[in-house]
Amino acid sequence: MAKNKNNQAIWNTRIKKKTSKLFEKVGSSIDIDKRLYKEDIAGSIAHVEMLFKQKIISFKIKNKIIYGLQKIEKEILKNNFEFNQEYEDIHMNIEKKLFQIIGEEAGYVHTARSRNDQVVTDFKMWIKSSTQEVNDYLEKIIKSSLKLAEKNIETIMPGFTHLKNAQPISLAHYFMAYVEIFKRDKRRFLYNIKSLNECPLGVAALSGTSFNIDRHYTSKKLGFSEPTKNSIDTVSDRDFVLDFLFSVSVCSMHISRIAEELIIWNSDGFNLIHLSDKILTGSSIMPQKKNPDQLEYLRGKSGLAFGNLFSMLTILKGLPLSYFKDMQDDKEIIFKSYDTLINCLKILNEILKNISPNKKRMLELADTGFITATDLADYLVKNCSMSFRKAYQKTAEIVNLAEKKNKKLKDLKIEELKKIEPKLSSEVLKVFDLKNSINSKKSYGGTSFENIKKMIMKHKTTK
Ligand code: ARG
Repeated sequence: MAKNKNNQAIWNTRIKKKTSKLFEKVGSSIDIDKRLYKEDIAGSIAHVEMLFKQKIISFKIKNKIIYGLQKIEKEILKNNFEFNQEYEDIHMNIEKKLFQIIGEEAGYVHTARSRNDQVVTDFKMWIKSSTQEVNDYLEKIIKSSLKLAEKNIETIMPGFTHLKNAQPISLAHYFMAYVEIFKRDKRRFLYNIKSLNECPLGVAALSGTSFNIDRHYTSKKLGFSEPTKNSIDTVSDRDFVLDFLFSVSVCSMHISRIAEELIIWNSDGFNLIHLSDKILTGSSIMPQKKNPDQLEYLRGKSGLAFGNLFSMLTILKGLPLSYFKDMQDDKEIIFKSYDTLINCLKILNEILKNISPNKKRMLELADTGFITATDLADYLVKNCSMSFRKAYQKTAEIVNLAEKKNKKLKDLKIEELKKIEPKLSSEVLKVFDLKNSINSKKSYGGTSFENIKKMIMKHKTTK
């Protein structure tokens, strides 16, 4: 329960009985929202500067309040601040402390504002700076992926669809796919920042205020592009929370997909990559084991992110407009999603720095499963004047023949091929070469070595 300097609830004139201990405990959010202290103090400083500019409070009171707030910030930074459950949340903890430091004049800080606008302001500011943090980590992953791509332009592997050998590709093409994925994630997070960039401060409880405040001034001071336009919407809106949770979910889903991919590649059946011992764990009973636990951790954590998104959607569903206590959980949910994502990003980056391809095995696997069949079909279209569907059917016949004879496509004799398509000459044999196949994929975005080199350059020179 929030209390004034006499250790009584701020609302004790109206609410005469002491809050039950149980509710005091469950109703308090200070253990969670103390993370917003910096934003809360910055918001209060901007607010009192505005109140002074608008002649609502005196120069002396403004300075006293700012002095007190800065002192509180230093105490919190030095771990000298005692957060108190009795004062419910970060806003009341700071206000209460302000009374202790500067006395009764602290009472002016809450002129023309409410915790309802205060909390959304703090929260939006926190999301802005945390988004920057997320994007910094995403940038590191993009760099690591680019490095892996650069090192593996000529590393040939099978590209899969349905996890069956499909067409040969460069391993770098895979890592460049990660670059695209994480750049998209970055943009999604940045887009959220644009859409939450209206400042809530000053809408007060829900209807605005009778004081002659300047919301444009506080908005600018706090780095927002403009003030919000409707006071009821402002205190009710948590769309920006959902946007953030959605972006975390999408990013976690991407991490989970990559983790699963690497788990498959690392499995004994595939054996396409090697993971350094640094990122592996052992078994308590099987002495030979080296398990990719960290990748499994990444794969699993997306569940938490999706759950949090759904929790928040469920809390908001059916909630009438304006402020309700239901919304207080938004911070715990977002902090959990954020902390987990940051952990996952750090782990993924560490993993990317500690994997190496098993090039021999990649090439071996790429050379199975009639993987250049599409190249043969394309060749037939280009050189034997037939439609793609016709060429597809002829190629399928050739694949059937190779399978029956237990041969690879490249090991079929030209005479055998000619029986199926008489127009073929021995020139066709080059299409079965894996490198040739990869380098023929010169279409924009395709896997040819030249394309990849250009894409790496492009990404290295643009943000
Ligand atoms: N700690 C509260 C929250 O996070 C701040 C807003 C409180 N407003 C109120 N009317 N009780 O939701």
